[in-house]
Amino acid sequence: MSPSSKTILVTGGCGYIGSHTVLRLLESGYKVVVVDNLSNSSYEALRRVHKLYTLNASSTSSSTIEQLIPFHQTDILDRQGLAKVFAAHPDISAVIHFAGLKAVGESGRIPLDYYNVNISGTVSLLQVMEEHNVRKIVFSSSATVYGEPPHIPIPETSPIVASMSPYGRTKVFIEHILKDQCVASKVKQQQYLKEQERKEHDQDTKRKNYEWNAILLRYFNPAGAHPSGIMGEDPQGIPNNLMPFLSQVAVGNLEKLSIFGKDYPTEDGTCIRDYLHVVDLAQGHVAALNKMDAEATAGNYGCLAYNLGTGTGYSVFDMVKAFNKAVGRDLPYVVTDRRPGDVPNLTADPRLANKELNWKAEKTLDEMCADLWRWQRHNPHGYSPSSEA
Ligand code: NAD
Ligand code: WQD
Repeated sequence: MSPSSKTILVTGGCGYIGSHTVLRLLESGYKVVVVDNLSNSSYEALRRVHKLYTLNASSTSSSTIEQLIPFHQTDILDRQGLAKVFAAHPDISAVIHFAGLKAVGESGRIPLDYYNVNISGTVSLLQVMEEHNVRKIVFSSSATVYGEPPHIPIPETSPIVASMSPYGRTKVFIEHILKDQCVASKVKQQQYLKEQERKEHDQDTKRKNYEWNAILLRYFNPAGAHPSGIMGEDPQGIPNNLMPFLSQVAVGNLEKLSIFGKDYPTEDGTCIRDYLHVVDLAQGHVAALNKMDAEATAGNYGCLAYNLGTGTGYSVFDMVKAFNKAVGRDLPYVVTDRRPGDVPNLTADPRLANKELNWKAEKTLDEMCADLWRWQRHNPHGYSPSSEA
């Protein structure tokens, strides 16, 4: 089947990474269906996707937004609501699962909400997928599953730990849930095949497949925005992450950046991260879908994990410097205490994804900063009605 005949359900498709991925999927010839409860996003993100897709010179589509991006304001905890979505779109062939809560600090204050939405929400989604014979899923995991890794750059074989934050633990648990489901589905398939062998009269009927394919994508630090300046990250309230915080300082919404500690065992004393352009990250999901299809076609099922990162680490000071260059002036900062839970260095070894997904982060740090600044400059209040785009 070519991508053009495939429909992908994107949970959390109105969010930061989800919306960029929806655009990339459409550009790659997929059809999409989006589920989001809009708890941390706005429908405006999909309007921007529609606008960009239809603006694109190579696109001849004159579809309305409802035709191009069917949207369901549904909570992933709502099994009946999800079942209705699958029933309304019987052509869904795979799911990309972004929906969930993602603020590390908040997860320590309201852990039950994180376990409920992230873990119970994923279980509810998987149950509904099984009921509707959809057994392919790409899951948004995180570099946080590596805790404080023994070696940099971090390969996928690095130990997965469960001690960082309730948020991080939800990612670890969901990885296990998906692995368990793949294993269980293999056993179910073997039992089914044995049964079929016994039933001679059924031999000519089409064989069913109960096996699952799951790909765990461990994102490093997504940053930047679509190069058009029309789409980007729109955090609710004060941003927790470095780059959206910096960009809000640049636009005057926040006074100054606090750099959380400069006494780490790194060259300049600040933490090192592997910042990855969100458009490259979106492409990683298309690559994962291709990989799942290739595996299924070859009769291979199971759970695979890949790092999505660039392989290059930058310190907080490096990032401030690069963003200052994009903005054209020095942004104010102050060095404060360390933030609990931060580890000195999280840099990916992305070679497995490069090789097996045929995916590589292409965009430079300067592009990431320039694109982020273009988005923030044109949309100082994100997707709220007062923004320009
Ligand atoms: P986001 O908050 O922008 O997107 C998540 C989307 O899920 C939002 O649109 C939100 O409204 C929706 N959502 C939340 N709870 C829901 C529910 N119960 N039912 C339906 N929809 C719900 O976050 P993002 O940055 O785009 O992250 C997407 C995924 O990637 C998340 O799972 C996150 O944990 C993971 N991730 C993000 C980063 C990062 O730095 N942004 C890094 C690693 C992993
Ligand atoms: C980067 C560096 C901070 C803010 C988190 C989650 C991870 C993933 C991505 C998603 C660190 C420093 C930050 C600020 C600062 N999450 N910093 N001042 O912590 O690497 O990863 O987001 O859903 O799971 O753990 O990203 O952008 O918060 O921090 O000095 O105001 O910037 O200490 O060294 P992090 P970050």
